[in-house]
Amino acid sequence: MLISSPMNSALNEQVGFEFAASLQYVAIAAHFDSESLPELARYYYRQADEERAHAMRIVKFVVDAGGRAQIPAIAAPHSQFTTTEDAVQKALEGEMKVTQEINALVGQAVRENDHITQNFLQWFVAEQLEEVSSAETLLRIVQRAGEQDLLHVEEYLARHRHPHLSATTRDADADS
Ligand code: FEO
Repeated sequence: MLISSPMNSALNEQVGFEFAASLQYVAIAAHFDSESLPELARYYYRQADEERAHAMRIVKFVVDAGGRAQIPAIAAPHSQFTTTEDAVQKALEGEMKVTQEINALVGQAVRENDHITQNFLQWFVAEQLEEVSSAETLLRIVQRAGEQDLLHVEEYLARHRHPHLSATTRDADADS
């Protein structure tokens, strides 16, 4: 096995965090879907797909490294949102939390002198920068628009389909 037993456990735990992030995005997307805000719904459904892909990327790494993939219980997501801003804020908080989790994993890999896992995690480090940045931008746009002008947010998302979501977008469009 190329990773330590504690690293194996920590990676399994992160699989759970990524699936939890995916479920949280499904809950946020469903909220916007039921509020008849299709672009916000589409954006977060795709984020949910991305988080699932993150979890699967870690599962694959654990298996490739000779470890044992064990999927932990996943906590229920928040499903009640008072305002659009509240839901978008929850998404940003979730990404900040995942960033801390990834940083902690990198820290553990450094302490263990585990270059294989460190190298693997660099993709996630770059991804978190991208995702936190996108989440902050969207929150600012929602705050600027206010609850009375959500069509402005819809138009923004329709015009600026996120570049790193483009592959998923194509898949989703092909399926529909
Ligand atoms: Fe997988 Fe958005 O963190």
